[in-house]
Amino acid sequence: MKAGIIGLGYVGLITAINLRAIGIDVTGIDVDAKKIELLKEKKSYIYEPGTDNLLERYNLPASTDVKAIADADLVLITVGTPSNDDGSQNLTYFISAVKSLQDINYKGAVVPRSTILPGTTDSYVTPYFEHVGYNPEFLAEGRANEDFIHPDKIVIGYKDEYTRDIMKKLYEGIKAPIIETDIKTAEMIKYANNAFLASKISIANELGNITKKLNIDVYKVTDAIGLDSRIGKKFLNAGIGWGGSCFKKDISALVQISRIHGYEPEIFNAVLKQNDLQPLKIIDILRARTEIKGKNIGLLGLSFKPETDDIRDAPSIKIASALLDEGAIIHAYDPRAMNNFKNYDDKFKNIDYCENAKQCVERSDAVLILTEWNAFKDDRLYPADKIIIEGRRIRGKEGVCW
Ligand SMILES: NC(=O)c1ccc[n+]([C@@H]2O[C@H](COP(=O)([O-])OP(=O)(O)OC[C@H]3O[C@@H](n4cnc5c(N)ncnc54)[C@H](O)[C@@H]3O)[C@@H](O)[C@H]2O)c1
Repeated sequence: MKAGIIGLGYVGLITAINLRAIGIDVTGIDVDAKKIELLKEKKSYIYEPGTDNLLERYNLPASTDVKAIADADLVLITVGTPSNDDGSQNLTYFISAVKSLQDINYKGAVVPRSTILPGTTDSYVTPYFEHVGYNPEFLAEGRANEDFIHPDKIVIGYKDEYTRDIMKKLYEGIKAPIIETDIKTAEMIKYANNAFLASKISIANELGNITKKLNIDVYKVTDAIGLDSRIGKKFLNAGIGWGGSCFKKDISALVQISRIHGYEPEIFNAVLKQNDLQPLKIIDILRARTEIKGKNIGLLGLSFKPETDDIRDAPSIKIASALLDEGAIIHAYDPRAMNNFKNYDDKFKNIDYCENAKQCVERSDAVLILTEWNAFKDDRLYPADKIIIEGRRIRGKEGVCW
């Protein structure tokens, strides 16, 4: 069977190369010619553990020309669906990807995998193609290849039987419960998944803000409640807040669509607000310990989580901006994300990017640990007389919620 994938970013590249690994004849399409050139050299342009090896082993044929997938039995669309300023979804890339398939009079199944609000496939895809489905992605960056091969579930939304059958065939090589449903429900499952996960972390953060005031260790509390099978252990790590490209944009879009339908979703409003404020709490703690203006402040970790170079919506962005506004001199180190951070905003260009964690600590009067990279867990990095504040719990010393 032949498959095409349009949009070779984090999701598209991981999906494409892993499908090749399970024996599907996949070709990838992206408008970015630089990405296609790198793929020809079997090189990954994202840092995601295992991806280079997979590319070397299975090779991903890729092109900027959508005609290269004209004879595919199905096409997954994995282009970005960012937020507009008001939180609504921006469908520019999505619509242009769909149009590129219309332009070649594509006849196979068209299956979006980008995160899109319920009703989007039916509005923008169903009218133009005979075979249509929706297949959300649930990968977590940093362990995306592992997640693809061992997912908790595969959700197949479909309009017609051809699409359902071809989708099941696509995932034949993967062992996971399959949820078959209509397209709109499949779209909603993805939002519900992300809204729940983000809310769970925010609850842990809120508990942490309270326990910090009460002089109680939040991790003792969340470790205990995590043992309750109705709660579960994962996503209970209190800290400087969640980040990444998905949670904020997806919850904002969910809030926006609720409002259009006359409903104000108070819980999700609160989750967004709580997470907006959470990163800055570490600066309040720092301010209580030292003056910030003119001080050398070290930031260890810039990516929103370890094992990725992704800084989209990372708490580090808010923290670095606020520190610069207060007149701090920033020294930063991240094993993978420094380049992305430097290019994120002109004001980050003048940050002192260090060669390693040790240099960053040495150059700083106080250090904030913002990502729980393994390299930062070594106690010997931190002199006893230096202010070290953890935004992510790695040693259990002074931290944002503990
Ligand atoms: N990153 C994640 O962890 C994650 C997880 C699950 C779902 N998602 C969802 O998957 C989608 C993609 O996310 P991402 O992080 O991979 O985005 P991304 O920005 O990393 O990648 C999108 C890619 O699409 C390409 N593109 C844009 N328009 C195109 C077009 N018309 N034709 C061909 N290529 C085009 C871009 O050049 C880019 O390479 C989003 O809807 C996102 O919400 C992301």
